[in-house]
Amino acid sequence: MPLEKSDVLEALKKVEDPELHKSLVELGMIKDLEINGDAVRVTVALTFAGCPLKSKIRQDVEEALRSIQGVGHVEVVMTSMTSEERARLFGQAPTEMEGIKEVKKIVAIASGKGGVGKSTVSVNLAVALAKIGASTGILDADFHGPDIPVMLGIEERPIGSKGMLLPLEKYGIKVMSTATLAGEGVPIVWRGPLVNKAIKEFLGKVKWGKLDFLVIDLPPGTGDAVITITKSIPLDGVIVVTTPQKVAISDVRRAMGLFKGQGIPIWGIVENMSYLKLPGDDKGKMDIFGSGGGEKLAKAFKVDLLAQIPLDPQIRIGGDNGRPVAIERNEVSEPFYEMAEKIKEKFI
Ligand SMILES: Nc1ncnc2c1ncn2[C@@H]1O[C@H](COP(=O)(O)OP(=O)(O)OP(=O)(O)O)[C@@H](O)[C@H]1O
Ligand SMILES: [Mg+2]
Repeated sequence: MPLEKSDVLEALKKVEDPELHKSLVELGMIKDLEINGDAVRVTVALTFAGCPLKSKIRQDVEEALRSIQGVGHVEVVMTSMTSEERARLFGQAPTEMEGIKEVKKIVAIASGKGGVGKSTVSVNLAVALAKIGASTGILDADFHGPDIPVMLGIEERPIGSKGMLLPLEKYGIKVMSTATLAGEGVPIVWRGPLVNKAIKEFLGKVKWGKLDFLVIDLPPGTGDAVITITKSIPLDGVIVVTTPQKVAISDVRRAMGLFKGQGIPIWGIVENMSYLKLPGDDKGKMDIFGSGGGEKLAKAFKVDLLAQIPLDPQIRIGGDNGRPVAIERNEVSEPFYEMAEKIKEKFI
């Protein structure tokens, strides 16, 4: 009896994505299926290129195909989904929003818990990216504690033009924040539907123009606000900031699990407040919050450790004064520049 496509699909229905726990057929990951005599050729689209489970998935598919009676030669071709396909699968926002039409990559800066330096990393990364020649914008999506305008020393409000808002510009980057819209000290209660609406406006009605990167500073943690935001934005990736402490690490594991479950590629981890440089000694370091956490986490999730940033009073002062250290490239800002270079090289 000749092999039928339906037999092959039936066998493939039993293969699940190890993380999403649904069959590859149901997830739309089987792109192509060819039968030629007793030879079967299947094309599998991973949710994103570089998915660490690639070899496991390939192996499972090969096994399933070999288990079908009458199958001789088996070939499995691995490819990856387009961003539209991924968006459809994970129920993410479509990419056609007017304001971000010319933005190449949207990356969110996230953390498992608050106060680990998310906004500091967002601001300095954005400035460093711009300084090395990548056009960059920053969106402050931390509705409850928007710190970006202070960290960049911005007081003016954005102006409108033909139904669109123009982002502000500082240190070579474009900037938008809920704080600049509402004015300082104005309390706003942001609930799910409002957050969703605000995000749509920030991406749809803000004229970001041509950008290589749009960096988004997320609220801390993995609560409703973060979930709403990450679902309303067509993200190309997320960078997770942590400190080396154990608790920060376990929180961040939860965050990474959340993003992976939403199909958002994790670009890497930043370990902030990594160590303290001891004065008067070139090589002296003090591991205040423990050591090795970021590295372990990066290994466990098979992602890059993008930077280890020391605890440095100049970094804090730069944030407080609205003059982030990355305005100049020097010893203190170097980790932000090295991170920016890695990202630019890999993603643009
Ligand atoms: N590497 C560093 N060295 C010194 N101070 C730092 C460093 N990173 C962050 N800080 C300081 O720590 C404080 C918290 O940082 P930041 O506001 O960036 O954290 P966050 O994760 O965005 O916090 P939140 O969860 O409140 O949004 C700030 O005062 C900041 O200047
Ligand atoms: Mg913050």
